[in-house]
Amino acid sequence: MCYAIPGRVVAIDGKTLTIDYYGEKKKAYNEVSGIAVGNYVYAQGGYVIARVSEEEALTTLEIWKDLFFELQDTDVSLSKLDLSGTGVDRRVVGILDRASQGLPLQDGEMLSLLRLKDRESLELLYKTANFLRQKHLSNSCCVHGIIEYTSYCTSDCLYCGIAAGVRSVKRYRMSRGEVLSAVDEAVNTYGFKALVLQGGEDPQWDGGELAETVRAIKEKYAVLIFVSPGEVGIDGLQKLWDAGARGLLMRFETSNPELYGKIHPGQQLSDRLLHLEEALRMGYLIVTGGLIGLPGQTEEDILADILLARRLRAEMYSFGPYIPLPEPRLSGTSAVDTDLILKTLAVARIADPENAKILVTTGFETFDAGARRKGLMAGANSVMLNVTPGRYKEDYSIYPNRAHVKEPLSAQIESTLSLLQGIGRAPTDLGVSEGLPSRSGF
Ligand code: 5AD
Repeated sequence: MCYAIPGRVVAIDGKTLTIDYYGEKKKAYNEVSGIAVGNYVYAQGGYVIARVSEEEALTTLEIWKDLFFELQDTDVSLSKLDLSGTGVDRRVVGILDRASQGLPLQDGEMLSLLRLKDRESLELLYKTANFLRQKHLSNSCCVHGIIEYTSYCTSDCLYCGIAAGVRSVKRYRMSRGEVLSAVDEAVNTYGFKALVLQGGEDPQWDGGELAETVRAIKEKYAVLIFVSPGEVGIDGLQKLWDAGARGLLMRFETSNPELYGKIHPGQQLSDRLLHLEEALRMGYLIVTGGLIGLPGQTEEDILADILLARRLRAEMYSFGPYIPLPEPRLSGTSAVDTDLILKTLAVARIADPENAKILVTTGFETFDAGARRKGLMAGANSVMLNVTPGRYKEDYSIYPNRAHVKEPLSAQIESTLSLLQGIGRAPTDLGVSEGLPSRSGF
């Protein structure tokens, strides 16, 4: 989904296009040849993904027109912020007031927001984050699809249910043909314009097969492809980029090197960061973040995670709870509650108010059935739907009882659209208004 309302190209400056959507101007990076001023295009994540005929564009724009403005009105009315006349501590109100004006906060101030406990302060924090989301990014909500192509993994992360050392899990590996038919269904039947291909670190997929699959997808479909294959090395990332992948989903899990070492035996945070930094330098859109509830993790760690994601110029922030495995291999995990996750999303929004897409993760939805709405009202503006074929979905058991795995895709889409409509969000990614997200220069 992410319906990608078509826009009209109004200016071209090298590879940067200015695109008009109902009078709003956005920029996008163009790699599609033969595009001229006056043409209509679809863009995703700041990338032009296809040209569309004028006829198709005008029909789609006509269908969306009234709804587009209606949704925006609903969103504006639900994201009003009034910081006066509350019983909230004056110091907290002062911090939120400055955040709401776009003034940068000090680390200690963001930390104090992560430590809020009383209900009224929490609600005010979430409202401030929602206000900032609306102010800078309006009501667009990214809806990406994710295809989980293999559950084989040579890595042995202690928190993960498909880690090499977990013997009890049933493994599967999709073929390239199966991935292509899942893509076909997602794009042609359901209209997804951005897909994530995720798998364990599976040598049968990482050794070039994933790149060839991306190439085959890009030859046939107008879709933005994110890959999430784990640590495939810098050469591997380059191969995937050359094949046409433009986004990388790779969490650093925790920014605390000691904690990272504990949960990833024999591995180092610096290797993970090198992948992310090199991917950023190549031009990848970065989706990253971490787990909340790791052993000994503090609020300082969580703040450092948010700031690391910002330093990595995350296009999308992905933070969710650690969900205990049936046979846990991690001991001493810390308690997580819905508010801790919501605080993380809200502080991420405050730390990166203008550009961030912030995801409500499936992990969070597994943890709290109402997470999607709560997250979207606390600064988040992205969701991912599982488009893995039904016969494999349940076996990608990175943690137990994952939300939505039993729902057919059509039901997932229906409930997502109805939630989004109710809170005035449009399942679109209209790109960026002020210049392009940095494509280089870490
Ligand atoms: N609980 C929550 N998230 C998990 N992941 C792996 N195991 C778990 C778990 N038990 C997440 C990791 C990884 C992503 C693919 O899944 O953060 O980056």
